[in-house]
Amino acid sequence: MPKLRYLGHSAFYIEGTGLKGLIDPFLTGNPLAAAKAADFTDVNAIFLTHCHGDHLGDTIEIAKRTGATVFSCNETAGWLASQGIKVEGMHIGGRARFEFGRVKLTPAWHGDPIIEDGKPRYGGVACGFVIEVDGRKVYHSGDTGLTMEMKLLEAEKIDVACLPIGGYFTMDYEDAARAVEFIRPLKAVPMHYDTFPPIKADPKVFAMQAHENAPGTEIVIMKPGETLEF
Ligand code: NI
Ligand code: MN
Repeated sequence: MPKLRYLGHSAFYIEGTGLKGLIDPFLTGNPLAAAKAADFTDVNAIFLTHCHGDHLGDTIEIAKRTGATVFSCNETAGWLASQGIKVEGMHIGGRARFEFGRVKLTPAWHGDPIIEDGKPRYGGVACGFVIEVDGRKVYHSGDTGLTMEMKLLEAEKIDVACLPIGGYFTMDYEDAARAVEFIRPLKAVPMHYDTFPPIKADPKVFAMQAHENAPGTEIVIMKPGETLEF
């Protein structure tokens, strides 16, 4: 059974056959971080939804130290490759098979600037991921508003959907509950809340609303450090 460990904010560790992966590993400077970057010595994949600091986080340091491949949109991947990092520069809607399973990039309504010499430049587009391992599917939406494209994910038969609920930069709990209704995953995990003052949110209110919209989905509120087998 693959495992998903919540590391706080939008950061997760995902482990299954052939996969020891991190998603948006913002650990250093993350007030909710349940692990340190240095704890991850054996990682073969990093899934990066976009380059805002609270997602890029420790990606470059961990990738350089462990040799992990970073999965991201193509423009971001080009920037990382120029720093000597192994990359898979895919793009929105694209799916490909790897040793551990398939990966698909999904649309996210958000920005993806690369900061170089203190100045932002075009980094491609923000994305989410559908990651398959051991026959299970995890959808991590990245930072995004609610989109109609999420309705298309219903046909993917998602096992676990990780969705932001904090509002301000992303969906709030009401829109996240609508996303659950669109996607109808077996389980949904709230993320991207409480880390900073503008994104304070009560995951229990999200859980109640999501349950009303989509009673077939189990809402799993994970504390940083907790692990979900799926
Ligand atoms: Ni962002
Ligand atoms: Mn963010």
